[in-house]
Amino acid sequence: MRGRGHAEPGPLLSVPAQSEQKGPFMPEQNAETLIEGLLLEQRTFEPPEKFRRQALISDDSVYREAAADFEGFWARLATEFLTWSREPTKRLEWTPPHCTWFEDGVLNASVNCLDRHVDAGRGDRVAYHWEGEAPGEARTVTYADLLREVCKLANGLKSIGIEKGDRVGIYMGMLCELPVAMLACARIGAAHIVVFGGFSAESLAERLRDSGAKALITQDEGWRKGAKVPLKANADRACAQAPGVERVVVLRRTGDPVPWEEHDIWWHDLTEGAEETCEPEPMGAEDALFLLHTSGSTAKPKGALHTTGGYLLHAAVTHKWIFDIHEDSVWWCAADIGWVTGHTYIVYGPLTNGTTSVLFEGDPAYPDWDRHWQIVERYRVSSYYTAPTLIRSFVKMGEEYPKRHDLSSLRLLGTVGEPINPEAWVWYWQVIGGGRCPIVDTWWQTETGGILITPLPGVVTTKPGSATIPFPGIEPEIVDEHGNPVDRGAGGFLVVKRPWPGMFRTLFGDDERYVSTYFTQFGPEVYVTGDGAKQDEDGYFWLMGRIDDVINVAGHRLSTTEIESTLVEHPAVAEAAATGAYDPQRGQRIVCFVLLKSGFGASDELSQELREFVADKIGKIARPAAVLFGEDLPKTRSGKIMRRLLKNIAEGDDLGDTTTLRDPVIVDDLKRKADAALGRSA
Ligand code: PRX
Repeated sequence: MRGRGHAEPGPLLSVPAQSEQKGPFMPEQNAETLIEGLLLEQRTFEPPEKFRRQALISDDSVYREAAADFEGFWARLATEFLTWSREPTKRLEWTPPHCTWFEDGVLNASVNCLDRHVDAGRGDRVAYHWEGEAPGEARTVTYADLLREVCKLANGLKSIGIEKGDRVGIYMGMLCELPVAMLACARIGAAHIVVFGGFSAESLAERLRDSGAKALITQDEGWRKGAKVPLKANADRACAQAPGVERVVVLRRTGDPVPWEEHDIWWHDLTEGAEETCEPEPMGAEDALFLLHTSGSTAKPKGALHTTGGYLLHAAVTHKWIFDIHEDSVWWCAADIGWVTGHTYIVYGPLTNGTTSVLFEGDPAYPDWDRHWQIVERYRVSSYYTAPTLIRSFVKMGEEYPKRHDLSSLRLLGTVGEPINPEAWVWYWQVIGGGRCPIVDTWWQTETGGILITPLPGVVTTKPGSATIPFPGIEPEIVDEHGNPVDRGAGGFLVVKRPWPGMFRTLFGDDERYVSTYFTQFGPEVYVTGDGAKQDEDGYFWLMGRIDDVINVAGHRLSTTEIESTLVEHPAVAEAAATGAYDPQRGQRIVCFVLLKSGFGASDELSQELREFVADKIGKIARPAAVLFGEDLPKTRSGKIMRRLLKNIAEGDDLGDTTTLRDPVIVDDLKRKADAALGRSA
């Protein structure tokens, strides 16, 4: 950690070491090349003086406190940030690989997010400035409004038989009713499972089945770039495959007629005349708050289970300190609530802190590319948080869009979801931040619940492309394939060596997979993140992407195996392999290789059909950039697909030694096809 105010202040001037070391565990070539490039990045940015003077955290005392006693540190914050109906006496209980935090504490998340602010006389404070997709459509929702709506829906849910311990699916667009639905579940002790509105009926069905959801909350239709998204129709198809769902609550949004099933009930009918108060369910700190599915290296998504006390604490503290949230801050996390970023930094973190947020239903490019800047100007947004992929789109579209608006309210900028290239970072700093806003590059995952590696913006000198240093109390390390720490500058597996409050507690219904995926490679005490990383001479972390079979497209995790097993469901497909190839805009793109069954001929139409097939089955984010047909897939003589080679083909790289292949000729054929399909000259 560097910067003024620190015991050893001063700018970072040293040039981080580069490493020649590459081992069998090293992440993919392009990530490696990228990171070598990043480590050449020498620019450093100290916290701007004006910002530092006003920052909530402006010296290293919290780092020192946590280093001395991390359990005591979190316990202190647990009483400062949260309201408990029974204060916990316990802190961390760690029976590797399972942990609990504050186990004997009792609280309710909705009380922490709402009641206590209203009780303190802050009910008129704006919780959300909601901006609809159509320009001009807007709504202001106060903390008192939210509390009333949450209680009414909570009472409604109780009236249709939802109880503490049940699970409720939520499949909605970015409306204020989405946090209302989540908090209504929390109020009565039911765990929610939010499924991103861009997911297909099948993906929704799978998540509903996996979580044993008893009810689903959805809406008639959503808006996406001026078009309607048939959420209710998708929900109907999903429920047909998820028989455990007994009731479906439907919010009216577009007002178009929708198909109606016997188990459906309109949100407005359910809540009309419902009591405006609802006794909150006392929840143990370790009771489930929600499940959220994420892709892993098998076809089946994993339902990460998050509990109430530790998660809420981690969400609130990281939100306040990292984004430097003050009384008068206007906060905007421009993610979708369907992802963990939205759960933690649109709903639970900001509401626990009583913050005013922006909630935007629409798309950054609709109706034009200045939409976000228009919103920043309109609501005087002070902290803005988005993904590098979007920043790269902004860079591509040009400065004229942000220049149309007054962005002087901004004090801080953040990024999440993937490594940010220094060019995009510097553009963000200059063009959006006007050279006065620190940028926090925040590394974390669905499983971690909240941010683990990040600068604290008033204290830490940043380097474009690096997520910098661990949040106080967090202990990440980079290790080799034997679990030994690597030297500074060398790449390896990013692991975390002790629990933190927001950590997921298991995978719902599959603790074995929790243990085998995350806590086996280096023993039960070491959490394996699945990411590769390096630390430079100053101890700064540089993330290098996934080491497992997970593709990160525009900050969204997708499983190669899930895409492959979807493709083989198509009648024409005998075998399929999917790989993530470097994409300058979206980080990675999906390239699939397909072997057809006899009787089916390769054609552009079939390739297009298969792309749509995947988009339909999983969701549009999973639509492959290309589906290529081969006579065979590149396999070793023992029949194992050579994934590294597929990636090289997809990225147009040199193929190297192919003599171990069963049939070396097929790779030349595939490479020619890939170059043609992806617009590269051979
Ligand atoms: O590979 C890392 C990447 O996103 C993965 C987590 O994805 P998900 O669970 O969907 O959560 C995304 C939002 C928290 C990580 O394993 N990732 C996330 N943040 C960063 C990142 N890679 C580099 N830098 C980041 N700041």
